[in-house]
Amino acid sequence: MNDDVQYESKHPIVIITGASSGLGAAFARLLDETLPDEVDFWLIARRKEKLLHFADSLQHGTRSFALDLTEKSSLNVIDEALRSMGATVQLLINNAGKGVSGAFAQQTSSYQESICDLNMRAQVSLTSIVLPFMEEGSALILTSSVAAFLPQPGFATYAASKAFILSFGRALAEELRPRRISVTVTCPNPMLTDFFSPKEKEILLSSYKRFAIEDPVHVAKKTISAVRKRKVVVVTSRLGKLVRLLAKIVPQRWIIRSVGKAARESQ
Ligand SMILES: NC(=O)c1ccc[n+]([C@@H]2O[C@H](COP(=O)([O-])OP(=O)(O)OC[C@H]3O[C@@H](n4cnc5c(N)ncnc54)[C@H](OP(=O)(O)O)[C@@H]3O)[C@@H](O)[C@H]2O)c1
Repeated sequence: MNDDVQYESKHPIVIITGASSGLGAAFARLLDETLPDEVDFWLIARRKEKLLHFADSLQHGTRSFALDLTEKSSLNVIDEALRSMGATVQLLINNAGKGVSGAFAQQTSSYQESICDLNMRAQVSLTSIVLPFMEEGSALILTSSVAAFLPQPGFATYAASKAFILSFGRALAEELRPRRISVTVTCPNPMLTDFFSPKEKEILLSSYKRFAIEDPVHVAKKTISAVRKRKVVVVTSRLGKLVRLLAKIVPQRWIIRSVGKAARESQ
């Protein structure tokens, strides 16, 4: 479903998934302030009212798609919209993602699958659908996480999905380099967004992870700056960079044990 079937603009497009809140909204606001007027934003998320309300607050032309990206039919909607417009996609921000902390055994298989579908399958499929509409100078952002740098007990499926995105993005960047299409994988620390339930926010704020909290606006700025420099991987905080370094030099089983112990204590 989208809000305006009469949309006929031929402007270049920026596509942002998960644009209704958190980091996706921060990307949209930042780009709304910095990109020339003749760029349109295609915004994707499930909650239609929230998305339309947010789109109204932007100065650029927008087209809102209220879609659940875990459904194959939703990806077909974007594919068809792009084919019918034939416009160039200047930037795709694959940002929609979710995760929940807690022991793997305590979560249902359907919830685990939905994390995989949104965090991996949707990012890969949408990239594949959008790529034919990109040209020299276009850019792709994939949203990963600091959680990508090592396996995380208490966040197992989520961390694995983000490691997948990091690996996928790094390889794709090299494949697309001769076409001068850039790929940037962004790896933020925890952000206090709708990603976390109120209860999870409380736990986060009382754990060691509170020292790592990042502002989505800061993450969006660091990521866009990295895209302009054609950086393939951006770790948006100093602490995140330290985690990445430690994951390379300290035996991972030690870190995994400590993270597992901390996760058990906070449950
Ligand atoms: N928050 C953190 O601590 C953190 C840290 C590192 C990385 N990240 C990553 O950053 C990205 C953005 O997260 P955030 O913190 O901004 O969380 P958020 O505020 O919950 O935003 C998630 C966005 O994705 C949309 N979304 C969720 N499920 C969807 C689905 N099935 N289909 C389409 N859209 C869907 C949500 O809108 P609807 O609910 O309306 O669909 C929302 O716009 C995610 O990839 C996340 O993994 C987050």
